[in-house]
Amino acid sequence: MQGSLPQLVDADWGTFDPWRVRAVTHRLAGHGLLEMAPLIELGRRLEAVGRVRTHSSDAYAGTAFNHAPMLYPNGKSAAETLADVAQAKAWTSLLNVQADELYRTLVDEVLDDIRPQIDRVDPGMVYRAGWIFVTSPRTITPFHMDKEHNFILQIEGTKRLYVWEPDDIEVLTEEARDLFHFDHSRDLVVWREEMRARAHVFDLEPGMGAYMPSTSPHLVENGDGPSITASFTYYTDATRRNARLHALHQRMRAWGMAPSPVNARPLLDALAYAGCRCADAVQRAVDGTRGHRRPSDGVQYAHPSIA
Ligand SMILES: [Fe+2]
Repeated sequence: MQGSLPQLVDADWGTFDPWRVRAVTHRLAGHGLLEMAPLIELGRRLEAVGRVRTHSSDAYAGTAFNHAPMLYPNGKSAAETLADVAQAKAWTSLLNVQADELYRTLVDEVLDDIRPQIDRVDPGMVYRAGWIFVTSPRTITPFHMDKEHNFILQIEGTKRLYVWEPDDIEVLTEEARDLFHFDHSRDLVVWREEMRARAHVFDLEPGMGAYMPSTSPHLVENGDGPSITASFTYYTDATRRNARLHALHQRMRAWGMAPSPVNARPLLDALAYAGCRCADAVQRAVDGTRGHRRPSDGVQYAHPSIA
């Protein structure tokens, strides 16, 4: 195995597969930036710029993730909620903390630490981001998936994390992933209770965590006390390629075509992706002549306005 071994996150790096769920351990519990007092201040700063997502403890596994804040609003401010999280009956996510000058140092500390091992098998780490979840007792993060690869690390309290493999089409269909990558819609992400039997189940305590590949469906149930959890996420060459192909396939479905699943036909995928990249380059050139630039997913840090 080549590359320096991470100091903050431990895994069996020799067998690390970027497209398989796995357990990890870490040494971030007790980190100064992950204690409640600085998190309350971070919550104030992020709320002022619209980067806090929150819902009440009434949300359940099958709540539509995109709409949970509207369906089950938490009326308190982020600072009020975090200061009394044991009683707040709320789930709060501090979004895109890499855009905060202080918390970018934490994101860099963790992702720089693991990057040599990631790069060995999954090169091209970009779009780095951090997310910090502060959760009241017995509160649920509804079933959903995300675009990024994700190291989710338990800092304080306990929670049960259910994660399904990113290619488990019994849980989420190829069409669900096509649509998600096309326009971030989770309309085909539908919870069924019987899916629990197919999940990896992690009973997380401080110092424990998991690696969740891009589009691994997941569901989180908080334990009997308050909890702090941090996620560190990124794209790679492979996630960006997969995302582009899924989005293309969604467009093909709209045209009445029935594309093969992404990665089922490698040569066709390679040709299609080369075509996509040419089309994107042309689009960027046209945009440039019109004076507007689309956000790129090839930059070092995730755009904070896109959560
Ligand atoms: Fe998530």
